[in-house]
Amino acid sequence: MLSKRSKTAQTEAVLPEVAGPRHVAIIMDGNGRWAQKKGKIRTFGHKAGVESVRSVVRFARESGIESLTLFAFSSENWKRPEEEVSVLMELFNFVLNNEVKRLHKNDVRLKVIGDTSAFDDKLRAKIQKAEVMTEGNSALVLNIAANYGGRWDITHAARKMAQDVMSGRQALDAIDETKFGEYICMADLPELDLLIRTGGESRISNFLLWQCAYAELYFTDVLWPDFNEAVFQTAVDDFKARQRRFGLTGEQVSTPQS
Ligand code: IPE
Ligand code: IPE
Ligand code: MG
Repeated sequence: MLSKRSKTAQTEAVLPEVAGPRHVAIIMDGNGRWAQKKGKIRTFGHKAGVESVRSVVRFARESGIESLTLFAFSSENWKRPEEEVSVLMELFNFVLNNEVKRLHKNDVRLKVIGDTSAFDDKLRAKIQKAEVMTEGNSALVLNIAANYGGRWDITHAARKMAQDVMSGRQALDAIDETKFGEYICMADLPELDLLIRTGGESRISNFLLWQCAYAELYFTDVLWPDFNEAVFQTAVDDFKARQRRFGLTGEQVSTPQS
């Protein structure tokens, strides 16, 4: 009979190191319900959610995730009551004013994905300044999806590609999935490995439609302001326990073909 200690040593020797996700995206949902459960107005939940953003950025940096993409405001969220939309815009402003220095100090590169043309000039200038300031950082790429929609992303890519075809920069016959994918947001980053959604709904809500093709999905009932490092770790552990087959058989994946 093996002692507990030697059993652990044996397990360690046998099990190969499982790779963690390189790129994680999060649909940060459940702020409104979190606040309402506490008898507060919905926007109280959005404010509380900022602390969860801080903790996931910290976790991602410390656990070697290369890219973290957060859904902050969807192209559909404009349809919410004016008051709520304006609080969300103020919060975005607040984060850009107060968090960018800290991100920069922590070697985090900030990028905003989405149709920023809908934002006012001041906000756009702030976004651009933050992106330029953090451009050379390499500990983590933090993508904030603001006025983002998966269908917008694909349509925008199609439009850019069509322009290149019309101007002769792109041959029509050479267009394939790889080529088209180069026009989609975050083409320069590792493929999306893991998509987490908090707040209990099991849907994509027009987030990263193209990028989700082979992402692992993880849904949790935890409301966004309650999300923390421990829940993030649980999602990562769940990811590591899965077998990603990409269309192959389980046997092909566990015994790589030469
Ligand atoms: C997510 O929380 C934040 C945004 C969409 C901006 P919600 O505001 O959607 O919260 P619930 O889903 O109504 O609880
Ligand atoms: C998705 O959440 C958008 C963000 C988290 C920014 P929603 O709350 O807007 O999604 P639905 O309406 O439940 O699909
Ligand atoms: Mg919601």
